[in-house]
Amino acid sequence: MADLDAFIARLPKAELHIHIEGSLEPEMMLALARRNGVTLPYASVEAAREAYRFTQLQDFLDLYYRGMSVLIEEQDFYDLTMAYLQRAAAQNVRHCEIFFDPQGHTERGVAFETVIDGLWRALRDGERIFGITTALILCFLRHLDEASAERTLDEAMPWRDRFIAVGLDSSEKGHPPAKFQRVFARARSLGLLAVAHAGEEGPPEYVREALDLLQVQRIDHGNRALEDPALVARLATERMPLTVCPLSNHRLRVVPDLKAHPLRRMLQAGLMATVNSDDPAYFGGYVTENFLAMQQALDLTREEIVTIARNGFLSAFCDEATRQRHLLAFDAFLKE
Ligand code: HPA
Ligand code: ZN
Repeated sequence: MADLDAFIARLPKAELHIHIEGSLEPEMMLALARRNGVTLPYASVEAAREAYRFTQLQDFLDLYYRGMSVLIEEQDFYDLTMAYLQRAAAQNVRHCEIFFDPQGHTERGVAFETVIDGLWRALRDGERIFGITTALILCFLRHLDEASAERTLDEAMPWRDRFIAVGLDSSEKGHPPAKFQRVFARARSLGLLAVAHAGEEGPPEYVREALDLLQVQRIDHGNRALEDPALVARLATERMPLTVCPLSNHRLRVVPDLKAHPLRRMLQAGLMATVNSDDPAYFGGYVTENFLAMQQALDLTREEIVTIARNGFLSAFCDEATRQRHLLAFDAFLKE
């Protein structure tokens, strides 16, 4: 429905699940490869897009880590982040919480400081230029060991005030949340909030571990929680936000097709579902395209769309004054 499409585009939105390295479009990837003298296996932008034929998480991750190898200088991280913020603002994203993968950079010799300085400078400029509010979430790569995560948290300490939470991403199967119990406990003792990818490819048990062992305030993805009715009831009672990423789920075959996506079932079960883009440069859409894909596949109503978008602001890690300001603007938009 064309008028719902326009409504989705104009609706104020919060994005809570976006990997900044996953917003690296092939155009910028090739430009940075040239700028930094990095060799990529893609001769053109089209060839890069053509190579994105993954049908499961690990195959995507292999391309994602290869892609981020062009990010070397502080300016690269700045340019990447500014490009995302510009696109997000154009889609009426009013608040975003951005994941970054420091180990994806420090493991190949880029200093933590280079990464955080570029991201931070872009967030400051972006907030001023686009009137958007932002926050950073430091993610640990779960395919690496906990000692590496501990070292990363140590390295991050001089910039403790620049991120609000820690997260857990990368290859899920075989790397349960339990593996990172100690580093998450230390992060929490430092006043950091916590999130974790769970139940994307991994079983419902990983969602329980994220709740019980990592004590997260949000679950990233969480799709497979639906296999466990008692877990669904718990998530609903706790009003635990799920940061759902429909186009990602489709591309990584977490769902067989978009019409089979559980988003509506999540809402009907009383779950606090939000819609997000995950890795927009790889999965074919930013947050608006994710809402549009769900509206079309599931024939979402205007009311369902409003609920999902409001859930984003309700689930954000901003201070209460900022949340109220965003919710007031959201409600004012709906009255227009
Ligand atoms: N899942 C796990 N790790 C990730 C993802 C994802 O969708 N994107 C970037 N790192
Ligand atoms: Zn993700």
